[in-house]
Amino acid sequence: WILILDFGSQYTQLIARRLREINVYCEIHPFNADLTAFSSFPPSGVILSGGPMSVNDEGAPHLNTHIFSWDVPVLGICYGLQIIAHTQKPGSVSKSDKREFGRAELILDTACPLFDGLPETSQVWMSHGDKLNALPDQFEVIAHTSNAPVAAARHQTKPIYGVQFHPEVVHTEHGARLLTNFARIVCGLEGDWTPASFIEETIANIRKQVGSDKVICALSGGVDSTVTARLIHQAIGDQLLCVFVDNGLLRKNEFEEVLSMYRDVLKLPVRGVDRRALFMKRLHGVSDPEKKRKIIGNTFIDVFDEEVADDKSFTWLAQGTLYPDVIESVSFKGPSATIKSHHNVGGLPEKMNLKLLEPMRELFKDEVRAVGRTLGIPDSFINRHPFPGPGLGIRVLGALSEEKLDLLREADAIFIQGLRESGLYDKVWQALVVLLPVQSVGVMGDERTYEFTVALRAVTSVDGMTADWAQLPWDFLAGISNRIINEVKGINRVVYDVSSKPPATIEWE
Ligand code: XMP
Repeated sequence: WILILDFGSQYTQLIARRLREINVYCEIHPFNADLTAFSSFPPSGVILSGGPMSVNDEGAPHLNTHIFSWDVPVLGICYGLQIIAHTQKPGSVSKSDKREFGRAELILDTACPLFDGLPETSQVWMSHGDKLNALPDQFEVIAHTSNAPVAAARHQTKPIYGVQFHPEVVHTEHGARLLTNFARIVCGLEGDWTPASFIEETIANIRKQVGSDKVICALSGGVDSTVTARLIHQAIGDQLLCVFVDNGLLRKNEFEEVLSMYRDVLKLPVRGVDRRALFMKRLHGVSDPEKKRKIIGNTFIDVFDEEVADDKSFTWLAQGTLYPDVIESVSFKGPSATIKSHHNVGGLPEKMNLKLLEPMRELFKDEVRAVGRTLGIPDSFINRHPFPGPGLGIRVLGALSEEKLDLLREADAIFIQGLRESGLYDKVWQALVVLLPVQSVGVMGDERTYEFTVALRAVTSVDGMTADWAQLPWDFLAGISNRIINEVKGINRVVYDVSSKPPATIEWE
């Protein structure tokens, strides 16, 4: 496997994506991770990511040179290259007179395993303000661009490499090939990490971890928790109890439909519990999105604690936490980088009576879907759009009320049903309706109305980290708007959200 040390680049996750795409297992850890933790599971290679700082800045992230004692290949990308050079030879990095952002032409100077199959010149993506002005001893230049005399370098005898450009972004023409060369040729990894091998390994780990204890699994109706439950069920059978909570924040008819799917199709041991009143009571009058998330997260945990209070053999709580949630929540840049505290990570109460079992913590969304398919979950379920843990609670903007939730539920059902009927559901990554805290004037028949506005949102995306607004056909939008305004009494205006992520996010809260 490959250890990716994160120096804060916005592209670090893409390095992991590219490696996973060629079935090479990898994990991202902060630059200052405790390396002794890997002694029982040593990596076969290390990649040092880019980063926003200059190696000469005060407080710039440093490189733990212990990695060199492992004698495994190392690839530094951008800041990663500069920090290797700076560590070996302080002063070798300086501000570039010309900052380099965007496309550049890479010219190879030497044959190198990293460049196997690459043409002599190709397009690469640069994004840096610093440059290497001198190489440490025993390093040599292996490629350049017109602005960067050192676009790639290597150690003459050890497998230490560095590139100034970003092979992980798609704008670098042969970037994926370069990373593949690093993993396959330089590190000697076969790329045998597949859904089936993940399932086999994870089932063994769950059995070892849990022993004869019992596990309660929080189902949300979404793909992640469903795949989690199915995986754990395969591992420990009826030591698992699934709980599906009606928190009053689900979509129309969702509780009944999903419960029957869990019971009758997936044969999971599931208990459906109605806690609508408790959630509504605790959320009463709360309008701040982060507060709503925390309250919903805490209330879920209380409900689960309560469900197993009489049976002390329940010691684990399973959750479908995914890799992007974990990474977004532990960024070393500090609180400013926390954009939203996704409830299954950020909102957990500090004191919880159950230990956490999160078998999919290392997976990306598309990998979860692949694992789910391999586990025999029907495609119609696997292809459901993501739905946030706090549900409609973060789609009624501001304070919640039963009336507002009902309006939103009706509008959402019309939109989603319309997408399905028009064959558009599977073409978008996620679609949702948001009830705005705005009333506006309309006219219906001869009457003046003063009612709510909903925003329709549909996005295309690969993993939810970035997203584009979906260009749905006008006549489709017109039809949905007509239906919502005519059929949902209380809504007299429909707008379509045409913002991408970033700078917007997918949900409005
Ligand atoms: P944003 O709004 O951050 O959403 O662009 C990215 C993806 O995450 C989902 N999301 C959440 N999921 N708890 C969750 O389990 C949350 O608090 C939460 N907030 C957003 C969102 O629906 C989208 O798929």
